[in-house]
Parts: sequence; structure tokens; C-alpha cells
Amino acid sequence: MAKLVINENKKMGRIEPEIYGHFSEHLGRCIYEGLYVGENSTIANVNGMRTDVVEALKEIQVPVLRWPGGCFADEYHWKDGIGEKSTRKKMINTHWGGVVEDNSFGTHEFMELCRQIGCKTYINGNVGSGTVQEMSEWVEYMTFNGVSPMADLRKANGHEEPWKVDYFGVGNENWGCGGNMMPEYYANLYRRYQTYVRQYDEKNPIKKVCCGSNDNDLRWTEDVLRTCFDHAQPQFHGFMDLLSLHYYVFPEGWDIKGSATDYTDEQWYKTLNKAYLMNDLVEHHGTIMDKYDPEKKIGMSVDEWGTWFTVEPGTNPGFLYQQSTVRDALVAGITLNIFNKHCDRVKMACIAQMVNVLQAVILTEGEKMLKTPTWHVFHMFRYHQGAELLESSLSGCSTTGPDDWQVPEITESVSEKDGVITITLNNLSLTDDQELTIQFAEDKAYEVTEATILTNSDVHTVNTFDAPDTVKEEAFNGYEAAGRTMKVKLPKASVVLLRVK
Ligand code: AHR
Repeated sequence: MAKLVINENKKMGRIEPEIYGHFSEHLGRCIYEGLYVGENSTIANVNGMRTDVVEALKEIQVPVLRWPGGCFADEYHWKDGIGEKSTRKKMINTHWGGVVEDNSFGTHEFMELCRQIGCKTYINGNVGSGTVQEMSEWVEYMTFNGVSPMADLRKANGHEEPWKVDYFGVGNENWGCGGNMMPEYYANLYRRYQTYVRQYDEKNPIKKVCCGSNDNDLRWTEDVLRTCFDHAQPQFHGFMDLLSLHYYVFPEGWDIKGSATDYTDEQWYKTLNKAYLMNDLVEHHGTIMDKYDPEKKIGMSVDEWGTWFTVEPGTNPGFLYQQSTVRDALVAGITLNIFNKHCDRVKMACIAQMVNVLQAVILTEGEKMLKTPTWHVFHMFRYHQGAELLESSLSGCSTTGPDDWQVPEITESVSEKDGVITITLNNLSLTDDQELTIQFAEDKAYEVTEATILTNSDVHTVNTFDAPDTVKEEAFNGYEAAGRTMKVKLPKASVVLLRVK
């Protein structure tokens, strides 16, 4: 029988709230329609931001939001998105769907969105097609509090006070859509561009994110770090705070991808197997980071992750709109448990993307909105934000699935905050419930304060705009607590939250 041993006396490190971050790009209906409908919309909004969506995002305590891309970031020229809206440039979004981008959502609107959500700001700068001056002026525009051309421009555009930029990405995927660069070339640009990401507010320094690798491209990580920390090593503090990693789960590979809803049992395991690969990726890239940064001062920022399926039939292929099932919930549960367990290195992560794109937490259609199964997982896991990871280990369980796509039967992570222990469990099996014994170190009578589950008898079921609550977090009573031991029956294909004290 499977056993989970929890040592509540051994704290392994803080789980940064930013691990539960999100990503929003000018792509499809993520920004326009999904988050921003404009002040004159008939859809309820505050300063153009959809009220229903903002409320749903507040419920999952979004800690940080990355913007404006993605690939879009390395073609984005921020000055196109400021000033009087009617005079802002209209252009074609060449990366995504070939639609008109009217720049009505720009820097001011992004800052307003983050204010309403109550989250930190992560701006991604343009290295691929932008200049050092452009990047430097954007930072000045957003964060300088004195007299300067850019600060004056911001004030003239109606924002007297500077904003707080918490994170700034120096380019995006510069090995690919961000300029097809070689790692050494990018690293030299990183050294140069980041120099001009000035810290105008010394008390609230901007954390700089260097463009890391895709998937298992270890060479990029090695060469970028070697070049960055080579000859005439720049001052460490404030030079690089995070290194990114992007990893998407394509069940059938990049070309075919596979349907989001119509999948076989084998594809279930294939998808979860590929999601579980995140564990290796974090460890392998982390080992290289350890070489250059043994004290773990640089965080890993997995600022694009999630499932990438074939778009929903009849939708614009460039909009990357996909539905979401219990399979996505499992991918989220598996991935977030991995991040929690590696909180010594993973300091930020952003699911791709927030609304209407890829593994979205919210889908919209006109004035309707629904929360996906992934939203519910973020809701269940929100207690881990800012908590202390506890030592925990599983024994007595095996792997499951077809030979080529084996996955662990169960994955878990455990944290503690304000005296309450949060346990998040995933049963990856499509066919078998799992009996699990949980044992704590302390000999005391633990009491369950909250228990919920996400599952569905048909793992292909989706929430629709007419039936938005079909797959959702529900009360769970499949446990018995007796002193320091608990017995839990984890239903097949489920994500479970237990809170005890
Ligand atoms: O999230 C969609 C795209 O995936 C992003 O624009 C890019 O960074 C990545 O390749």
C-alpha cells in the first residue's frame, strides 16, 4: 500500500508565491476580449478590464503576470501603445493570426490590470528587434520618479507616479522567435541590454530575467551562463536574478499536437509522462545553474509552461484556443507539485496563458466566462503560495501506463503556513483508485480542516459556456484521520487537496 511520510518538523524552503504566476500575450483572444474589452464595452468592466475575469483571477490569488509576450515581445515597440488611443498605431500581429493590433492595450492598461488583480508586474522587453535605447527608455518611462524626458512623457499621458516593475525579461526565446541567436551571442546582448535596465528605485529593484532554454536544450543554459559569468564578470547583484525555462507538453509532438478533448488512454499517459518530464528538466538545468551559482542566488523562472493541443475545430489556428479537461488538471497538479518540491531553485513560473490561449485558466465567449479545470487546480493549490515546503516522501507505490509512457501512480507536495499543513495529491491512473496512508512525525491528533477533489467520471468532459460547472473542485470525504495517521482513498484520475492541523 502506498505511504506518504511527512516530517512537519523539517522545513525545506519557502514556496515563492510567484511559482503560481501567469502569462498573457497579445495572442488570439487573451488580451483583447479575454482580459480587456475597452471602456465602452457592454460587458461589465472597470477601466476596460472585464470585471468577471478580474474577479475570477483574484480568487486564485494571481501573484504575478507576465506581458506582452512571448514571441510578440520581441516585435513590440512600447511607444506604439501609449498616449491617446485613437491615434495609436494599427498594425498586423504577424506572429499570431494576422489580425489587426490597434495597440489600445499598452503599458498603462497592463499596469491597471495588475492593479485590479493585485499582482506583481513582469514586463518582457524586446531584444530581438528593439534597441538598447528603446528598452532603457521603457524602464525610465515606467519607473523614474524625477525629471526626465520619459518620466515627463508618462506624466503627460496621465500617470504622475512611477509604477513598480517587479520583473523585467531581457528578451524572449532568443534562441527562436526572439532572433534565432546563438547562446554566446545572446549572452553578450544580455550583458549589454541589462546594463541599461536602470534601477531608479533602489528600495524596489527590478529583478532581471535572462532568457533561458527551451525544453532540454542544456547547451543553451551552459553557454549562456558561461558567457554571462566569464571575462570581466559583471557585478553579480542585480545582474541576473532569474534565468527562464520554457516547456510545453505536445502529446503527439510539435507538428501534430493532438486534440485537447478527444484522446485515447495511451494519449492520457503520454501527456502526463511528458508533463512529468518537467522534473528532469528542472533538475538538469538546475545542475548547470549550480555550477555557476552554487548558492542558488539566481532563480529559475519557468515562465511558459502548459499543454499545447490542436486548436478547437473552426477556430483561427493562430489564436491557439483550446478546451481543457481533467487531463489538463492533472498536468497542472503534477507540474505545480514539481515546482513546490524544487522551491530552492524555482522562484517563478507562469502558466501559458491566462485567458483563451493554450492551457488557460479562463475561457470567454462574448459576455460569458468559464473557469477551466486548471483554474480549479490553481484554486486548490493557492495555499502553497508563500508557505514552507515540508519534507515528504512516498513509498510503496509504483508506476502505471503503457510501457513507453510510464508515470508515477501518485505525486505529492506538502507545505505549512500559519500552522496549517497543505497536502496536494495527484492520482495519475486512469483505471485504479489508490489507497494511501499518510503518516506525520508528530504524535498528535491531526484534524482535517478542508478537503476537496477535482475529477470526473468521464475524463474527456469539458466545462462549456452553457454548463460551466461540470468539472470543478468539490468537497472530498474519502479519508479517515486517526491520530498521526490518515487513510486516504484517492479516486482514479484525480487531484486532491487536504488541509490538516
Ligand atoms: O505561448 C505561445 C508562444 O510559445 C509564445 O509566444 C512563445 O514564447 C512560445 O514559443
